[in-house]
Amino acid sequence: MTTTTSGDTAPHAASATPADSVFVQACRGEPVPHTPVWFMRQAGRSLPEYRELRSGTGMLQACRQPELVAEITLQPVRRHGVDAAILFSDIVVPVAAAGVELDIVAGTGPVIADPVRSAADVGRLRRISLDDVGFVDEAVRLLVAELGATPLIGFAGAPFTLASYLVEGGPSRTHARTKALMYADPETWHALCARLAEITVEFLRVQVAAGASAVQLFDSWAGALSEADYRRYVLPHSVTVLHSLADAGVPRIHFGVGTAELLGAMAEAGADVVGVDWRTPLDAATVRVGPDRSVQGNLDPCLLLAPWPVIETEVRRVLAEGLAAPGHVFNLGHGVLPETDPEVLTRVVELVHTVSAR
Ligand code: CP3
Repeated sequence: MTTTTSGDTAPHAASATPADSVFVQACRGEPVPHTPVWFMRQAGRSLPEYRELRSGTGMLQACRQPELVAEITLQPVRRHGVDAAILFSDIVVPVAAAGVELDIVAGTGPVIADPVRSAADVGRLRRISLDDVGFVDEAVRLLVAELGATPLIGFAGAPFTLASYLVEGGPSRTHARTKALMYADPETWHALCARLAEITVEFLRVQVAAGASAVQLFDSWAGALSEADYRRYVLPHSVTVLHSLADAGVPRIHFGVGTAELLGAMAEAGADVVGVDWRTPLDAATVRVGPDRSVQGNLDPCLLLAPWPVIETEVRRVLAEGLAAPGHVFNLGHGVLPETDPEVLTRVVELVHTVSAR
């Protein structure tokens, strides 16, 4: 493992500021010296140095400690030489800041004390301001100072995925209660998503104002919906979020899992980059999202558990398919699995950089 000192964490950055980094250029569909790469969930999970730092500290508690957040965010940048950092946090952090009583339970995920299922419940969700998430502002500022030319990606959960946790009370396989609310009481559903969109916009604005160079909107569970339902119940709220950030001057990435049928609609929501899971080859995804957007993805996270020759073949395939898009940011099709060998991640970064060098 190589460690670098502050301000020198990006051995592959070809330029001096995050705004003209290879990652931001690829998001904008501009010519790049190589395909940039980062991994969803690169901070955390698979890294022993992360598990050591986190031991004894709950997830939400950790997210509220700017120095700890900065250190965890930097760990994969130092270790793997990825082209971007992503803020260590969780999608439910702004919801907790809005007054929702919740916990992040190890091995389960977010658990909500009183699920949101009525108009009165929606009324309990406050708007947030900088004061509610000052720890995020501080973490981003610390990171931007440390990262030098390496861009920091800010992120938030999209209204549908956040609503699913709030309505179900925790993780769900079917999202049945969420859909039931959507179908039975569209007015309450839209009020809930509208409030979540406001919270999300403010949370992302805080991160951009503090110096984040890009933002990713995670609609992880949108793939549970048909295209018609997505368009009717979800798209307008994701449009609100992405359009509200149009003037922020940073690329916007929009990601979901199982979204093959939704890629066109998700592209219409207005992001600069559409994240694609492993089920849809990037050249096919490019046809669906249109020629004016970059794509991000899409190696199956499970492939990282395969023998190296298999991984190498698949990385080369993803890079070749990504050439169909105006810009390609290499990533996995979803987050790094906890059992992934971190050395394999480092090797993938090196391979992506070598194979894609132009
Ligand atoms: O797993 C870890 O990296 C440890 C820290 C942790 C995170 N979230 C980091 C995170 C933990 C324990 C959670 C709880 C949680 N929250 C889970 C996982 C439960 C488990 O034990 O595996 C889940 C599914 C959530 C809800 C959530 N958080 C979603 C749906 C997303 C969007 C990304 C996705 O996986 O679909 C998040 C974002 C998230 N959680 C990030 C991090 C570091 C940021 C995004 C990133 O780094 O890519």
